[in-house]
Amino acid sequence: MSDLPASVRLETGRGGLPVLLVDGPSARAQIYLHGATVTDWTPHGSDPVLWVSSASRFTAEAPIRGGVPICFPWFGAHPGESGAPSHGFARLCEWSLVGAQDDGEDVVVRLRLTDNEATRESAWPHRFEAVYTVVVGSRLSLVLEVTNRGEVAVVFEEALHTYFDVRNILTTEVSGLEETPFYDLTIGPEPVPGEPDPVRFRSETDRIYLGSTRVGTTVRDDESGRSVLISRDGSEATVIWNPWADKAAGMRDFGDEEWRSMVCVEVGNIRDAAIRLEPGRSHTMSTIFELSPTLEPAAEHKPRSTPS
Ligand code: BG6
Repeated sequence: MSDLPASVRLETGRGGLPVLLVDGPSARAQIYLHGATVTDWTPHGSDPVLWVSSASRFTAEAPIRGGVPICFPWFGAHPGESGAPSHGFARLCEWSLVGAQDDGEDVVVRLRLTDNEATRESAWPHRFEAVYTVVVGSRLSLVLEVTNRGEVAVVFEEALHTYFDVRNILTTEVSGLEETPFYDLTIGPEPVPGEPDPVRFRSETDRIYLGSTRVGTTVRDDESGRSVLISRDGSEATVIWNPWADKAAGMRDFGDEEWRSMVCVEVGNIRDAAIRLEPGRSHTMSTIFELSPTLEPAAEHKPRSTPS
């Protein structure tokens, strides 16, 4: 590993896990090697953009509940092996630090995961290399490149399972997925037609949108007056998730009331959009988060005008 620039320090973080503390010219960030999980991105002058549960475990045995866990090489429950970990093994592995460097106003950190004895005995036993590039600046850029290092074609799913911090889920909406069909995991296995309006939250929400490759998505948090613009490349699926009260109460690493202040918007390649890679080939999926002030209240949340 190359020497680190002064903007990046490798320290012992929560639970004794190694963490990279990035303090760049335009933002600070924290990246745990455990799962290559970015747990903080805070542009200077802004509040933190990512949400991490106060009940999250910080241990090698469990994923971090918050930030940007990486789902790979499958999403959700493994279809064939009930004992396989939810969302794949990547968020449970310690990634290695390839290097870090300053690049103008940005700080670039690169991490890597390859197959090892444990992954070769897992439900996805293939040879692979995954390189994750995190560019910390006034925008946060995340680039996941997966290469097939084996001798047979492989198929995998992937997602950057981002937890965004919002002040109030009831006055938050996600736009950019209008008219896109989706699987509603709270209802059943069949896809349902897209909706004309942005996604608003009134109950448990767990949706996989397919064919969302061309659109940018915006998380608009009216109570904080902040929007996060999410752009993407090489990703055809978007997951929207909020567990709501009952499910949150049943999760030991999720505070009972914390569903009110988070929403997951996940850029990925899932189900019909799973990636097939021939030997030696690579696939790159990337996303960029950018803050913008919310100028007008969303139609639904506008105060009613007082009749004269
Ligand atoms: C979301 C899934 O991406 O992750 C949900 O769509 C799931 O179904 C959620 O409940 C959290 O998963 P986990 O494994 O981190 O508890």
